Amino acid sequence: MRALALSTLDLTKRFGDFTALDSVSLQVRAGTVHALLGENGAGKSTLVKCLVGFHTADDGAIVINERETDIRTPQMARSAGIGMVYQHFTLVPSMTVAQNLALGKGELPAVIDWPAQLASMRAFMQGMPFQLDLQATVANLSAGEKQKTEILKQLYANNRLLILDEPTSVLTPTEADEVLGAIRSLAHAGEITVVLITHKFREVQAYADDVSILRHGRYVGGGAVRDFPPERLASLMVGSSAMARGSYERVKSSATPVLQVQGLSALSEAGVPALHGVSFEAARHEIVGIAGIAGNGQKQLVQAISGQMPRSAGQVLVHGKAFAGTRKDYREAKLAVLPEEPLANGAVAALSVAQNMALRSFDQTPHARLGWLQAASLRRTAQQLIEAYGIKTRGPDAAIGTLSGGNVQRCILARELAADAQVLIVMNPVFGLDFAAVADIHERLMQARQRGCAIVLISEDLDELLELSDRVLVMHAGRIVYESRHPQQERQAIGLAMGGQVIEPESAVV
Ligand SMILES: Nc1ncnc2c1ncn2[C@@H]1O[C@H](COP(=O)(O)OP(=O)(O)OP(=O)(O)O)[C@@H](O)[C@H]1O
Ligand SMILES: [Mg+2]
Repeated sequence: MRALALSTLDLTKRFGDFTALDSVSLQVRAGTVHALLGENGAGKSTLVKCLVGFHTADDGAIVINERETDIRTPQMARSAGIGMVYQHFTLVPSMTVAQNLALGKGELPAVIDWPAQLASMRAFMQGMPFQLDLQATVANLSAGEKQKTEILKQLYANNRLLILDEPTSVLTPTEADEVLGAIRSLAHAGEITVVLITHKFREVQAYADDVSILRHGRYVGGGAVRDFPPERLASLMVGSSAMARGSYERVKSSATPVLQVQGLSALSEAGVPALHGVSFEAARHEIVGIAGIAGNGQKQLVQAISGQMPRSAGQVLVHGKAFAGTRKDYREAKLAVLPEEPLANGAVAALSVAQNMALRSFDQTPHARLGWLQAASLRRTAQQLIEAYGIKTRGPDAAIGTLSGGNVQRCILARELAADAQVLIVMNPVFGLDFAAVADIHERLMQARQRGCAIVLISEDLDELLELSDRVLVMHAGRIVYESRHPQQERQAIGLAMGGQVIEPESAVV
């Protein structure tokens, strides 16, 4: 068997006086898929970063195939046969699959004898559970194919312990099943061992053999997946405290629109038309869901509404007044946007939590006086939001870039909702969040709706849309092709429209 066995013995990692990993001991059997679970900030990424030499553990040991292995640098991890597949792609888009495989192995494409290389890569590919076109340029691949290329790259570099940190979050459900199915067959064939970080219980149940659960940096349980039904996983992840879920008597949506999007068109970053005359409205006490497969103009819709990109036609009105996206417009319209990937698009990683929470409002009293930022006032406001939103941070002064993914998301949502928004535009708000955080954020969106906010919820997650939306619009190829006023009863029609098949043309908005 070429797959590696891994165990950690009392692995400990501290950041200053904060202990992110506290004596974690776990065992990963060779040739298995091992799920690593835990709520946001539990220490999952920290653990695997110690395994790939990105962090050095302060204490404890890493044991590979019964042998204690010193891993202090990424090179040491590589020579131990450990590789990582990141959530965000690390391929060179302008190169072919073959060139990327070569690069991953440390070979320079310029000095390679390509005919011989391609022949050996083809032979290697034969033994894989999925096939890719070696000559295809990476930029032209779908997300699923890119993810498969990342996995092939690891195997081609002869890494036998693969770590996947939320690998399916960028994939459609079908692509996710394909990729996870493929890694499971490789594992069960004894080729690789896989540590899989995921927040999706369904993936754990369907594809993992064993599971380990972390809570507050400690190992709190684990074993064969069949002994851990979802309820048991959930209670281990969050501790024994039961989860309260609000149930709602929905306040009736008002008839007059607050937000009016009229004939909006825009180009993509590459300069091709991506949005074609999109019109819709949202009223007080209403959540308008926008469904669609990623890449059908949703990103441009958010950017064109919020004024982050030029519109080629159309206009946006808030309370009947034109909204172009200036600071003044935002203030007057009380419009807030929760962008996709908040750390990249809505925050400054090196600034503190408190500074980031004030980014939108720092030029107004009481935070600013005579142009000086009032640090104490910033910190006080931030502390309140940290408590209200249960944000895990060492405090308001921690750099936001040191927070776990889920906690960055909460910071930005806290900031946008605290501004007492009347119009809220949110895109994939629970991306990468643990199940408890998902419930919490959904509850907060619902509360915003109940207090009168008009919400546009753009999401690739159909279940999320069906649960929260009063109405669902479906985007396909830059147009709204379908409107459902009873989304819960029309799941199938919505799904078909997402794929471009509209079965009830009479109810479609054109
Ligand atoms: N470089 C760092 N400096 C200081 N604190 C850090 C650093 N990296 C992580 N932490 C802290 O360690 C804790 C664990 O973070 P980690 O990223 O491992 O969580 P996670 O389980 O991967 O969460 P998520 O599901 O949100 O990705 C968090 O409280 C985080 O703020
Ligand atoms: Mg993480």
